[in-house]
Amino acid sequence: MRRILVTGGTGYIGSHAVVELMAAGHDVFVADNLCNSKLSVLDRVARISGRRPEFAQIDIRDRGALRKLFAAQSFDAVIHFAGLKAVGESVAKPLLYFDNNVSGSVALFECMQEAGIKTVVFSSSATVYGEPPSVQFREDFPTAPVNPYGRSKLMVEDVLRDVAKGDSEWRVALLRYFNPVGAHPSGLIGEDPNGVLNNLMPYMAQVASGKLKELSVFGNDYPTIDGTGVRDYIHVVDLARGHLAALSALGKQTGVLTVNLGAGRGYSVLEMVNAFSEACGKPVPYRIAGRRPGDLAEYFADPSLAHQLLGWRTQLGIDAMCGDTWRWQQWAAANAAELA
Ligand code: NAD
Ligand code: UD1
Repeated sequence: MRRILVTGGTGYIGSHAVVELMAAGHDVFVADNLCNSKLSVLDRVARISGRRPEFAQIDIRDRGALRKLFAAQSFDAVIHFAGLKAVGESVAKPLLYFDNNVSGSVALFECMQEAGIKTVVFSSSATVYGEPPSVQFREDFPTAPVNPYGRSKLMVEDVLRDVAKGDSEWRVALLRYFNPVGAHPSGLIGEDPNGVLNNLMPYMAQVASGKLKELSVFGNDYPTIDGTGVRDYIHVVDLARGHLAALSALGKQTGVLTVNLGAGRGYSVLEMVNAFSEACGKPVPYRIAGRRPGDLAEYFADPSLAHQLLGWRTQLGIDAMCGDTWRWQQWAAANAAELA
């Protein structure tokens, strides 16, 4: 059993990781500033897990608060989810993204170093890849993110690579997520997006629940299986378990691990629409719209390095991704007051 600090642990992916960490017997402490999540998620984490993680409302940019936390608590490792993630917002407010995601991470690593905590798992993204030599992305492909959000992720990767170069005691895992979707099978926790919905799965879930009229399918003239965009969707529970696998791998080695967390296969938008319609028992209305600027036709992960280095691969398929999302959507609709 280890004691783990989870930054961003009340968020979508973080809350699922907290459940998996506690299920594996770890002691978990969550730090989050609640800018994109609510504390009540921990009540539901406690319902699932039978125990509640400790919590402190902390902004990772606040070195004073972090120093106090590290003076009062001891941790073996940090899983660092805290960050802002909306691509469009990052284009409109780049300084906010560099301050929150990059300066915040630097403050966290600085305070970790002072406290002698040198093991970190970082949430990176497939967004860091540039023009791909093939549709199946490998970790050694060139990086060249095209928006401030993606650049903030690559900058933090670079910071950690340099930190580990300068001090050989650091153990770093840079996990490049593909498209996280789904929810805990209990239906008690899941993605609770704020504001404008940009991503396919949350949009589709709200169309199915009748909150939104229809899904716009962005383009059906791509060179893909049915003309619609293809992505590597990964169930959030599989993704959460990837963090446990990374922690175990870091127990055996120092230095930096950079791995893709994806399923290694893609689904088209229409395949996702069909699977979601099956899951919710009614057709999801959609119309074909124009391509969304900036979208690639198709990409998915080469997950072989994650299997080799972490002994991890995805186990949950498209039916679980859609079925669990639908269960969560129904819980969220029935408990809107708790989420408001
Ligand atoms: P989320 O918004 O649900 O969770 C992020 C959490 O971090 C939120 O609870 C938020 O309140 C907190 N936070 C943000 N800034 C903070 C700060 N300065 N101090 C303390 N807490 C702060 O997002 P998520 O989908 O769970 O993503 C988790 C991480 O994974 C993020 O770093 C994100 O960039 C990365 N990621 C997400 C995706 C995705 O599609 N969801 C894909 C690739 C990478
Ligand atoms: C987006 C982000 C990426 C982030 C990822 C997280 C951009 C440019 N990229 O990726 O940085 O890591 O989310 O999951 O925003 N689609 C529709 N209709 C919709 C919404 C989406 O047809 O209403 C299509 C898209 O064209 C795409 C696929 O569904 O082919 C997936 O889109 P989305 O869920 O937004 O993810 P990405 O664009 O892959």
